Amino acid sequence: MSTACTFVLFGATGDLARRMLFPSLYFLHLEGFLAEEQKIVATSRSEREDAEFREAVREWVQERAGDRYDPDVFDAFAQRISYVSVDASEPQSFENLAQHLKAYCQDEIVFYLSTSPSIFGAVCQGLKANGLSKAPNRIVVEKPIGSDLASNIEINETVAEAFSEDRTFRIDHYLGKETVQNLIALRFGNRIFEPLWNAQAIESVQITIAETVGAEGRGGYYDEYGAIRDMVQNHLLQLVCLVAMEPPTSLSADSVRNEKVKVLKSLAPITPENVEHKTVRGQYEGGYAEQGAPASSYKEDVENEDSDTESYVAIAAEVENWRWAGVPFYLETGKRMAERNTQIVIRFREVPHSIFGAETNPNELIINLQPEERITLQIMNKKPGLTAEGMPLQELGLNLSLAEHHTARRRIAYEQLILDALNDNPALFVQRDEQEAAWRWIDGIIDAWQARGMRPKSYRSGGTGPSSKHSLTERNGHSWYE
Ligand code: BG6
Repeated sequence: MSTACTFVLFGATGDLARRMLFPSLYFLHLEGFLAEEQKIVATSRSEREDAEFREAVREWVQERAGDRYDPDVFDAFAQRISYVSVDASEPQSFENLAQHLKAYCQDEIVFYLSTSPSIFGAVCQGLKANGLSKAPNRIVVEKPIGSDLASNIEINETVAEAFSEDRTFRIDHYLGKETVQNLIALRFGNRIFEPLWNAQAIESVQITIAETVGAEGRGGYYDEYGAIRDMVQNHLLQLVCLVAMEPPTSLSADSVRNEKVKVLKSLAPITPENVEHKTVRGQYEGGYAEQGAPASSYKEDVENEDSDTESYVAIAAEVENWRWAGVPFYLETGKRMAERNTQIVIRFREVPHSIFGAETNPNELIINLQPEERITLQIMNKKPGLTAEGMPLQELGLNLSLAEHHTARRRIAYEQLILDALNDNPALFVQRDEQEAAWRWIDGIIDAWQARGMRPKSYRSGGTGPSSKHSLTERNGHSWYE
């Protein structure tokens, strides 16, 4: 049950609010996670009546919730919602908001900023000037929090003027995904993996986030950020942290964060000297995407013929510490790829000596996070049947399909995150030093690209990325798991 009593959403008519935030709040209401007195105050610039706004929310929720939409439940949910127009550039707006909030419980307010970071400063100042930023009130901020280390620090400092670090919740929605949290359970809830989770037993790690969608519809933002800022700096590096970190002493936000920061600080810098050997940038061409439908090119999607922003990145990273020395972490993310797939492949070393007269395949632990939730351990077996000589082997997978074991609907990642923000539980949020360490490493890569004039290579929509990605792994005698 939520402990905060009022949830104030900035950017309430935006894309994220429509697709994710209101449907998540509806599900929390439906499943009894919102306290009786919990209110939702929606704000954006335009003027709207409560009734009109609630009807808009009804449509968004209906679309997302499908057969879990219940008109009576929605009517009760809608009673929690009120709307107030706020123009962040107008100090008067915040006085109006403060006035509006007087009608509601003021004990614990969560402000959620689903807006451009360019107005975070104005919003924080407006809240502070009206006494709304005092403890235990807290703030939730959405990415992008800056486009490099300097702008990230600047935004964080602006927010810090109004909200202390322990009351600042930075969202990385991957941390709200059930399967991402399951990585922690897999590693630290089982005895069998941890003794092997190191460079002695593991040869390489591959983390892929492939998407079929392109940059269509969000050209302005995406063309400025590209895949490295949009996906690697946050989601991919969070996955690296969860795979590579040392066991935290507890699940508390600080213990987990401390271990994640150590991983980020151990990432070997990528420099102009090695960037061409360690990274590949790609940009999709037009052609045929999903199910053979004709697809536009990246440049068409972002309406910028001269764009040299990447929609694909591959990186051969190294975590330079005792546990991981010499183990490449192959990271890859791209848009308009053949299939949607988020996957971690832990490839173990070969057996030290084969007694079978032939090579055995190294074991692989394959963790599929989405769309399928499956963990597979590839192991060598005897091929059934009589043999005149020797023992022929075959590789088979031990399969754990998580979907078969829990029939609950697949949740929106934001449900858990909103609930945690309401309950003042910061464990699944990103802390400031973590984010700064990630930006520091990413800035190094972007600077190296610039120093080398490394432009993206084109790749086919609906393919597996630029062919030059293979040189990243082949250089170490490895190959991509595809
Ligand atoms: C967002 C990125 O953070 O994550 C998008 O801005 C990307 O470009 C999305 O498509 C992917 O999220 P998910 O949950 O669909 O894997």
